[in-house]
Amino acid sequence: MEHKLAQKWQPHSWQSLIADQQPLYSDALAVDRVLAEIHRRPPLVTWGEVDKLRRQLAEAGRGERFVLQGGDCAESFDDCTAEPIANKLKILLQMSLVLVHGLKKRVIRVGRMAGQYAKPRSADHETRNGVMLPSYRGDLINRSGFTAAERTADPNLMLRGYEHAALTLNYVRALVDGGFADLHHPEYWDLDFVRNSPLEAEYRRIVQSIVDSLTFMETISGQPLSESGSIDFFTSHEGLHLLYEQAQTTFVAETGRWYNLSTHFPWIGMRTADVSGAHVEYFRGIANPIAVKVGSGMSAEHLLELCTLLNPNNELGRLTLIHRFGAKNINDKLPVLVEAVRKAGKHVLWICDPMHGNTETTASGIKTRRFENILEELEAAFALHEQLGSILAGVHFELTGDDVTECTGGARGLTDTDLERAYKSQVDPRLNYEQALEMGMRIVARKAKK
Ligand code: PEP
Ligand code: CO
Repeated sequence: MEHKLAQKWQPHSWQSLIADQQPLYSDALAVDRVLAEIHRRPPLVTWGEVDKLRRQLAEAGRGERFVLQGGDCAESFDDCTAEPIANKLKILLQMSLVLVHGLKKRVIRVGRMAGQYAKPRSADHETRNGVMLPSYRGDLINRSGFTAAERTADPNLMLRGYEHAALTLNYVRALVDGGFADLHHPEYWDLDFVRNSPLEAEYRRIVQSIVDSLTFMETISGQPLSESGSIDFFTSHEGLHLLYEQAQTTFVAETGRWYNLSTHFPWIGMRTADVSGAHVEYFRGIANPIAVKVGSGMSAEHLLELCTLLNPNNELGRLTLIHRFGAKNINDKLPVLVEAVRKAGKHVLWICDPMHGNTETTASGIKTRRFENILEELEAAFALHEQLGSILAGVHFELTGDDVTECTGGARGLTDTDLERAYKSQVDPRLNYEQALEMGMRIVARKAKK
């Protein structure tokens, strides 16, 4: 891969390489106009925040913190309203509370939020009743309805994506700064539904124990723990649509580096991790902490090449590997990669995404994931990293704070027939609030058992 490393990186240098999963626009002038407008608008995040996350991730890589990353498979513009945003933030905060308490580690909270609008698709087209149309690729690119007009890639949606990301982030920041996450008032964190949940008693016990500890600390120190009053919350999305990502890439004179300021923590999806492809080229030049999804098809050689290209200075915190093998494959696939990375002396963070390798279709044709398979992969991930002397630095979920029925199982025992009741995702099935909270508790229970 010498040719790539020798070549001078620029925000547009990816354009000379093959870029998979990109939309085809018919109006090039409209695309240029939209990109120019996005480029002159203010960034969504600051480079100071991005650098802070990179430092925190380095700590997670040493086992001092734990990463909780989660959110929708794809955000939709339609759901950019107060309640779904607040509910998603709440469930992430509740899960992190459970993790902080149980793991006795600070948790880095990262939403798949405020920009998760572009989706890779395994097929370019979709056929219904003999009609073939381009696949839906996320709200940043086209629309989910099944008409030719809706499935046509529309450059204006990039601008709308930027704006919806800004609206989402503005509300998240206001909630976080306004005390929504204040540990002194964990009662604000309650979701209505916890009240009727089989997990209610356990959750309340955890909350009470945190309040007691906080009161104790403040009593003996004689002053409020101001630090605990506010929390950090970071954003992430798959950096799939490279023109859109490039338009928000900025040179920061203070650090002498380029940053993607549309999000704190962009990742490369499994389908676009080709070492000589455009995505890897774009990502190697930005200073953000970045991640790559690692699936069953990735060889150790491929992974090591990615580590060299994406993290040439071998800095811990820069590169995260999000493995997503499925419960059936993780035992076979993960150890080889962890060993190879360790032997080569590459410094990376490992995070487990137990969702994307466990997608299946029910007898009636509904895409789902089973709670027990998700949990099984997660437990295998913890056990394998431990056996290999490696650290599992975090977890990555597709979840929502709403009461959907997209994944089966969990304490309430959702079955295949429940799926029809509240299936809202246009893409992958998400854990609902209760299943997500239970997942947090199960992670912690595993540690307590040992
Ligand atoms: C996703 O995270 O929604 C996704 C498409 O994942 P992967 O690239 O791992 O398939
Ligand atoms: Co998904």
